Order: sequence, then structure tokens, then C-alpha cells
Amino acid sequence: MGRSRLNKIVVTGGTGLVGRRLVQVLADQGAQVAVVSRNPERATLPKGAEAYPWMELPALLEGADAIFNLAGEGIADQRWSPERKAAILLSRIESTRRIVEALQWVSKKPSVLVNASATGFYGAHGLTLLDEAAGPGEGFLAKVCQAWEQEAEAVMVKGIRLVKLRLGVVLAKEGGALPKMARPVKLFLGCTLGSGQQGFSWIHLEDLIRLCLEAAQNPNYAGAINATSPTPISQRVFMGILARHLHRPLWPLPPALTRLSLKWLLGEMAEPMLLQGAYVYPKKALGLGFQFRFGEPEAALADLL
Ligand SMILES: NC(=O)c1ccc[n+]([C@@H]2O[C@H](COP(=O)([O-])OP(=O)(O)OC[C@H]3O[C@@H](n4cnc5c(N)ncnc54)[C@H](OP(=O)(O)O)[C@@H]3O)[C@@H](O)[C@H]2O)c1
Repeated sequence: MGRSRLNKIVVTGGTGLVGRRLVQVLADQGAQVAVVSRNPERATLPKGAEAYPWMELPALLEGADAIFNLAGEGIADQRWSPERKAAILLSRIESTRRIVEALQWVSKKPSVLVNASATGFYGAHGLTLLDEAAGPGEGFLAKVCQAWEQEAEAVMVKGIRLVKLRLGVVLAKEGGALPKMARPVKLFLGCTLGSGQQGFSWIHLEDLIRLCLEAAQNPNYAGAINATSPTPISQRVFMGILARHLHRPLWPLPPALTRLSLKWLLGEMAEPMLLQGAYVYPKKALGLGFQFRFGEPEAALADLL
């Protein structure tokens, strides 16, 4: 990974899948990294990184080069009860608001906030390729992303550059969607979900970290940026590649059967998380010259599996 010019960094949610790797890379490059966590005493961090409680945010932001906001309750960790949905939304709104509020006490402010969002912003779409100019979609996840992005926009009036990174499904060895999708395939239980035509917009964790670093350092990155590989594919194609890499079959189950089973197993989240999707294209990042190392799903899965 290329050396960054970032010296003093604050990362909220730095103990999660994306944050851990980002913090590791920054710390390896010699940056001083402050991870803001609800449980700083439990955070295990690389050398060069320290965990702090949220109340220390204003002091941590003083003189920082950049802040990465990745904090929020796991979207797919539990079934979506009304309470769970409220927690998913509120955790993002409140974390982002705390950053905005903390900034008013900071005299030497960071020049950029890189705020996570998700391709869920676009809602469910058919086969249309969506770039950053596409409008917001419908449904719970789309509403969460819109509210989250809107909350972050308040930093712009303080003269801080805002990058809203709309993450696709992050593919990583360490956790997230890939191990969950690979498990049934390894157990000879793999199949296409629903029609299989729904878009699967993904990004390899390493490319995402490179994109985060680039977004923080390059002033031309501003506004919404799709953090997805340039080859969104259908869920069916992705599962096919996954099964091939794992040397396992995929069962041709009737779409109605997988749809019903997923809804029974996962409830409301089955539809937006697995049975619907969107083909999202990283037009802005490519236009700014970003080069994906893992632009093709074959290459990404060969590296990860
Ligand atoms: N991974 C993906 O495929 C993906 C795709 C699209 C968007 N995203 C978004 O990108 C961000 C980073 O993803 P990730 O996979 O690294 O997430 P993650 O592994 O779930 O980590 C998120 C972090 O947020 C913090 N957090 C959890 N609940 C919180 C709450 N109620 N209040 C404040 N902080 C809370 C936790 O840190 P502490 O326990 O230390 O406080 C946790 O480590 C997330 O917001 C996620 O929604 C991820």
C-alpha cells in the first residue's frame, strides 16, 4: 500500500471490519491513530493506535489531519425488530452528530471527514448501472443512508471537505459478508438467492482502504463517491464464482423456495439485503484516476479464498 501523508488521524468505529484494517495500515505507516470506541478498554489495536471514549472526541480532533466515521450498529447482525431498526439508524445519526458538535470546540480542525455510507442509498434497482448522479431510493436502508449522509453534511459549513463513501459489500477474509456466504457453499448447501439477477456491488477490503486513504488526501474527492469495484455482477454470477473457487456445486433451487426460506430465516432484512440489489458503478473514483487492484470478482475471490 502506498505511503500516505496522513499523520494524525481519528477513526470512529475503528474496531470494526473496515476500521481495524484502516487503523492497521495507517499505524504501519507511522501515523498517530486515535480510535474512538464505546469500549476503549476492550479494543485491541496495533502499535501506534490508541483507543479513547467518545467524550474525548473534541481533544482528539484538535490538529488532526482527517477523521474517518465508520461507526454504527451492524446492519445484518440481528433480525430487524422495530427496536433494532431504530438502533441501526440512531447509532449512525448520533455518532455523526457527535462529530459535528465536537468540531465546534476544535480550533485547528481536520480538513476532511470521510464518512461511511452504503450503496443501500440507491435502494433496489433492476439492471440499470447506477453512478453517483442517481437519486436516493426507497426502503429502510435507503432512508438510513440518506439521513446519515445528511447529518454529515453539516461539517461543510465549517469549511471541512466531506467525502460520503457509499460502500458496496466489503469482501474480506476477516469477516463481513464473504465468510457468511461461503459457509453454506462449503457445506454443499450453496444456491442462488431468489431470481439471482439482483445486482451485487462489492469491493475488496484492500481496495476500500486504498480508496479511503486517497479520499482523505486528494482534495478532488468530495461529495458522494461509490466505493464499489468497477464490475458489479448479478448475485447468481457471484455465487457461481464463489462455488467454483470452493470446488462445490450450486443447487438450482426454484427462486420462490429460496425467497420463502430466506424470509422465514431472516425476516424483513432478507428482501433488501439479499433478494434485491443494485448494479453500482464507481464513476467518480475512476474519473479521479483511482486504480482498483481487484476490479474483477475472479481476482478478488482468488486472493481472499
Ligand atoms: N462491511 C460492509 O460490507 C459494509 C457495506 C456497506 C456499508 N458499511 C458501513 O461501513 C461502516 C464500517 O463497516 P464495518 O463492516 O467495519 O462495520 P462493523 O464491523 O460493524 O463496525 C462498526 C463499528 O461501529 C461501532 N458501533 C457499533 N454500534 C455502535 C453504536 N451504537 N454507537 C457507536 N458506535 C457503534 C463499533 O465500534 P465500538 O464497539 O468500538 O464502539 C463497531 O466496531 C459501517 O457503518 C457500515 O454500516 C459496511
